[in-house]
Amino acid sequence: MNNFIFLNPTRIIFGKGTENLVGAETKKHADKVLLHYGGGSIKKIGLYDTVVKSLKEAGVEFTELAGVQPNPRLSLVRQGIEICRKEGIRFILAVGGGSAIDSAKAIAVGVPYDGDVWDFYIGKAKVKEALPVGVVLTIPAAGSEASPSSVITNEDGWYKRGLTTDRIFPRFSILNPELTYTLPNYQTACGAADIMAHIMERYFTNTKDVELTDRLCESTMKTLINNVPKALANPTDYAARAEIMWTATVAHNNLLGTGRDEDWASHDIEHEISGIYDIAHGAGLAIVFPAWMKYVYKHDIERFAQFAVRVWDVEYNFRNPEETALKGIEKLKAFFSSIGLPVSLSEAGIDDSRLEEMADKCTSSDTHTVGGFVKLNKQAVYEILKLAK
Ligand code: NZQ
Ligand code: ZN
Repeated sequence: MNNFIFLNPTRIIFGKGTENLVGAETKKHADKVLLHYGGGSIKKIGLYDTVVKSLKEAGVEFTELAGVQPNPRLSLVRQGIEICRKEGIRFILAVGGGSAIDSAKAIAVGVPYDGDVWDFYIGKAKVKEALPVGVVLTIPAAGSEASPSSVITNEDGWYKRGLTTDRIFPRFSILNPELTYTLPNYQTACGAADIMAHIMERYFTNTKDVELTDRLCESTMKTLINNVPKALANPTDYAARAEIMWTATVAHNNLLGTGRDEDWASHDIEHEISGIYDIAHGAGLAIVFPAWMKYVYKHDIERFAQFAVRVWDVEYNFRNPEETALKGIEKLKAFFSSIGLPVSLSEAGIDDSRLEEMADKCTSSDTHTVGGFVKLNKQAVYEILKLAK
C-alpha cells in the first residue's frame, strides 16, 4: 500500500426532505449567494420553489444564474464571475448535477483571481483562493458533490479540461434520493456508467497489497450493478435510488483511491469525445472503458480475472485465466448495453473521421501520455478509439 493523505471535508446531508435545510446550511456561510442551476429540470420537479422558500426563510438573499449546459461551458462561468464581482457575492449555491456544480466551482475560483479563469484548467496558474460552494444534488453521477474537481468545456477549440484542488470541495452537499425519481432512464444509466468508471479508474492499479480498497471497490460496483436495474424498472424505488446516490458519492470522494495508484486514461479519452461531440459523459465512458480494457488487459491478466470473478461472479478458469479476464470485460459491456447505453462510437452516431484529432488532443500532440495503469501515447489512444468504433 502507498503512503497517503486522505481529506474529505464536505458535510453530507443525506435523506428524505433534506433539501428543506438548504437555507439554514447556507446561512452559516453567507447572507447573499449566487443560485446556479441548469436548463430548468429543477423548476419542473418543484425543487426550485423549495430552495427559494428555504433561502428566504433563512434570510439569505440570492441572484440567479441559470442555463448551465451538460458539459458546462466556459462562457457561462465568465458571466458568473462578473455577476459575483459586481454584486459582491461570496458564496455559490449549485442546484443540479455535476455540470451545475462544476460550473459553480469554476466561478468560485475565478472570482478572487486577477487573470483568466481558464488558466487554472490548463495548468497556467494554481488556485490560491476560492469562494465556498454549497450543493443540492439532483443526479448521482459525477461525484462532484464531494470531489475536489471541476471539469469545464472551452468553446474556443472545444477543449474539455479538469481542475483539481482541495479548495473546491463543497462546504456541504444535500443528497435526497427522492429528487432523482424524475431522472429520465437514460440519465440514470449515464450516471451509473460514470459511477462505475470512477471506481474502475481506481481499481485497475499497479499497487500491490491493497486488499481493503480492492474490496471496497468491488462492493460499491456490486451495489451499483444490483440497484441500477431496479431504479430503471421502478424510478420511485427509494431504496434503490438511495443506494445509487450514496455509491456515487463514495465512488469519487477519494476514499477508494487511498493507498493506491489510479489510472484515469478512460476519463481523459472520454473528455475528448464529449468535448467535441457533446454527448453525455457517462455514455462516452460506456464506449471507451470496454475498449480500454481490451487494449490493456494483458498488462495484468490476474487483476482483470479478479474483476470478473469478484464483481461479475464469473467462474475462475485455472487453465485459462485470460478467458476469465475477457469474460469480465464482456459482462461489463453487456451491463452497459442492458441499461440502454451505447457501447461503441457508431451506436452513439459518431463516425471515425476525428479519431486521430481526439488522440492528438488527449496526449497534447503526443508530448504526454495518459493513464497510470498502462501509460498510453497518442498511437495507443488512437488504437483504443479504433477498438471503440
Ligand atoms: O440542466 P437540467 O435541466 O438540470 O437537466 C439535467 C441535464 O440535462 C438533467 N437532470 C439532472 N437532474 C435531474 C435531471 N432531469 C430530471 N430530473 C432530475 N432530478 O440531467 C442532465 C445531466 O445533468 P449533468 O449535471 O450534466 O450530469 P452529471 O451529473 O452527469 O454531470 C456531468 C458533468 O460532470 C463532469 C462531466 O465531465 C460532465 O461535464 N464530471 C465532473 C467530475 C467532478 N467534478 O469531479 C468528475 C466526472 O468524472 C465528470 O468528468
Ligand atoms: Zn466521470
